[in-house]
Formats: sequence, structure tokens, C-alpha cells
Amino acid sequence: MSKNTDELFKNVISHAKEYGFVFQSSEIYDGLSAVYDYGQNGAELKNNIKTYWWKAMVQMHENIVGIDSAIFMHPKIWKASGHVDGFNDPMIDNKDSKKRYRADQLIEERIALYDTEGKTDLAEKLQHDMDEALKSDDLGRLREIIIEHGIKCPISGTANWTEVRQFNLMFSTQFGAMAEGSEEIYLRPETAQGIFVNFLNVQKSGRMKIPFGIAQIGKAFRNEVIARQFIIRMREFEQMEMQFFIRPGTEMEWYEYWKAARLKWHVALGTDPAKYQYHDHAKLAHYANAAVDIEYEFPFGFKEVEGIHSRTDFDLSQHQKFSNKKMQYFDPEVDPETGKPYGNYIPYVIETSIGLDRMFLLTMINAYEEEDLSTEERQDSRTVLRLPAVLAPVKAAIFPLTKKDGLPEKAREIMDKLKLEYNVQYEEKDAIGKRYRRQDAIGTPICITVDHQSLEDNTVTIRHRDSMAQERVPADDLTRILGDVVSW
Ligand code: GAP
Repeated sequence: MSKNTDELFKNVISHAKEYGFVFQSSEIYDGLSAVYDYGQNGAELKNNIKTYWWKAMVQMHENIVGIDSAIFMHPKIWKASGHVDGFNDPMIDNKDSKKRYRADQLIEERIALYDTEGKTDLAEKLQHDMDEALKSDDLGRLREIIIEHGIKCPISGTANWTEVRQFNLMFSTQFGAMAEGSEEIYLRPETAQGIFVNFLNVQKSGRMKIPFGIAQIGKAFRNEVIARQFIIRMREFEQMEMQFFIRPGTEMEWYEYWKAARLKWHVALGTDPAKYQYHDHAKLAHYANAAVDIEYEFPFGFKEVEGIHSRTDFDLSQHQKFSNKKMQYFDPEVDPETGKPYGNYIPYVIETSIGLDRMFLLTMINAYEEEDLSTEERQDSRTVLRLPAVLAPVKAAIFPLTKKDGLPEKAREIMDKLKLEYNVQYEEKDAIGKRYRRQDAIGTPICITVDHQSLEDNTVTIRHRDSMAQERVPADDLTRILGDVVSW
């Protein structure tokens, strides 16, 4: 990370705290590693991202419905899904520092180093060797690679490594109050399983016909060993997932469809398309036969924000096997090749899975700007969050020019009307310029100022966040004007 991008990232993190977007969890107790709380503006921004996703996925698709399944699930689910046996990270310990690292991440950092040093051949070979070792779960080979390339512990500076071991990422807890009657259950590491186990409930109660999707937004938990880069890798995070149930044999067609559709969703928010890239998975998760990441260029490099996975009938077949309940769908449509209905089958699934917290960080970083407003006469600058207006935590701020002469009452009257539709804020403290800057810093698209003229002709001044341009408009037009600016 160069000095500038490093600084940008640090500034975004401190901005997020200073303006009530993200706080370290349990901060007064020195924090809890890789767990974060969202503040008053963060909660609004997060909710708006959720709504934007829900509208695009559920509201705009007649054949996609949304559910909200419980975090606690029967422990057999995670056996069936393969997470008990297969949801592991390869870990290695340095014997001197006693620090634990993800073996593949140590190697990835070395690949990045080779790349920056212009040693592209070496970087490619190392990438290839690591992919091969990961694909065949060859933990011994991973260790060999680390030793061969002289990778050292960043703390102790030595290459005194233990064996590589698999470390399961699921959190477990005791379910049931009595010690003898309780059983161990897991906190879900993905929301997807809540959809799979409800597949037939939703299909039957909603009379859904294939192809159809089930969407869900909810918390997921992973005991990440290496937690870093702020809200990129958390132990408690949120996912927005959609499972699209399809006829076997059509998976590649739908995989390509969702790959394109999901990138379009990202770019529709006005983000520079050049900041996005697809990254095909070399090592596939235990459930997938094809997988691609949508990556965004964060200040610290390209990172996965969303995954599109072709999960075949793996999950439904496993649940059929473990629960002894049929997970089949009867497809009455006629197969043109045989002239007969497709009949009973276990559907295939294409999944789209986006991390809400990563999307949140992406949105903040993309919007954050330290703008130089200096003129020949004086130096000036502002920090502005150029958030898409639909995502802005506060849609408009209403300021009385002064705290007297009936201006606060008039401003409150306007506020009371607007708050029926929008999250708006009233502010009367400090000079107008300072109030503008505070709203710029949280991304409020419009500020409305009520002055003495407002009392005479019922007009107000509106000031636009991005251009800083001001115009005089009738107060009665404000709901419409705001509607035009922040509509979905
Ligand atoms: N159901 C499929 C699934 O969970 P994944 O690639 O493991 O796939 C999907 O996760 C998305 O969830 C990722 O693209 C990422 O945005 C987000 N995610 C995963 N682990 C995370 C973590 N520890 N902290 C924050 N977000 C995470």
C-alpha cells in the first residue's frame, strides 16, 4: 500500500468513527477484535444499502421472494452442508513468536511482493503452486512452499514454522439451559443454509415455479483467525444472499446471467466500472462447480465483495440425505426433446452472495473526498461524502439562518412535513458554513436554509452537496424536489 492510499484508508476509518458511521465494538473495554458497531449514520447507510439490494433482487424480480430465517439451526445442517468437515482455513504457527497465520495469506503476500518487484514469472509460478496445493488440500506442500520462498514471520523475523493445520471457522455454543440436556450448535457461517432448508416451504406456500429465487439478508459468524483491514474481515458480519433454483443442465446459462446482473447492480450506483474486476476461483469451495468473485479496488488492493457460485444440487441433495426428507421439485413443463414433462428432480442452484459490510466500506471509500476549495484569496477545503443520494443517511438538513425572529419555528414546520417521507435533520447551532460542512461530511445531498425572506414569501434556499450551488425555491416544492434527488 503506498503512503497516499494508506493515508486515505486511515482517514476513511477515522472519518467513519468521528461522524458516527462505525465504532469498534466494546470500545470502552479496549474493543473486541474484528467486531464492529454501526453508529447513527452507519445504521442508516447500511439500511439503505440493504433496501437497494432488496429492491433490485426481490421487488424487481417477480420470481424472487425474500425470507428471514433464524440464526440458530439444527446442528445436523452443518454436517450436511459440509461445513463441519470442510469449512477450514489452513493455519501455520511461528514457533518463535507463537503467532498464527493463514498459510495461503502468507503466500499471497509474497506473490504481491514479487509483483511489485517486477518478478512476474516468479509470482505466477508461486500462484500456480499454491493453487495446486490448495486444490488437493496438500497441507505439507503449502508448508514446503512457505519454506522454499523463505517466508518469515513479520513479528519474529524467523522462518521457524510448525506444520500447517486445518482450523474450523464456525463458532459453537450450548443450546438448552441444562448442562446435561444441552447440545452444541453453531452460529451460521452463511445465511444460505436457512434458504436451502426452507426451499420446499417457500416453493409450496408461494407456488413458485422453477426458475425462482429466495433472498435473505442476515448475520453470519466466522471465527476468522486473521482479522484485519477494518470491516473487510469480521467475526460477526452480514450477508445478502440469493439462491436461484434452476433446472439441472441450465446452470452455466444462469451463472453467466447472474454474473453480469450483479456487476450491473454495483455499477448502477455510479461507481467507476474500472474499479471492479471478476476473479475466477482456482480453488472451489466444497459445494461449488464454478465460482467467481466480483472484486473492488480498495486502497489496499482488489478484494472480494461478492461471490457468484454454481452450487449444483449439492446442498439440497445433502439435506435430503441427512434429513430423510425429499427435496425434489415436480416440474410440469414439457421437455421439447422427449415431449414429456421434466418431472421430479432436485434443482440446481446459482447463488449470489454479497457481504454487506464490505459493500458498506466500498461505498464509504468511493464517496470519500478531501476537496481543495482554495482560491487566490484564501485556503479552504472540505471533506465530502459523495454518496449516491438514495444511500445517504440523511436526505436533507434544515437550518434556520438565526435562532430568533420565528425562523426556528418556520424551519421546524418544514421539517415536520419532510420527515413523514425522509430522514431529515434540524440544525441551528453554528454559522451556516460550518453546518454545511458537517452535512457534507455525512453525505447529505441537500441543505435547506430558512431566512427572513422565507417568512414573507414562503421560499427557502437549497444548497446542493456536490456542486455547492444554491437556489431559491418555494417551500411547497421541497417534497417534490427532494423526491427527484433521492428517488430509487
Ligand atoms: N454462501 C456463500 C458464501 O458465504 P463467501 O464467499 O464465503 O460465500 C460471501 O462469502 C461474501 O461474504 C464475501 O464475498 C464477503 O463479501 C462476505 N464475507 C465473507 N467473510 C466475511 C468476513 N469475515 N467479514 C466480512 N465479510 C465477509
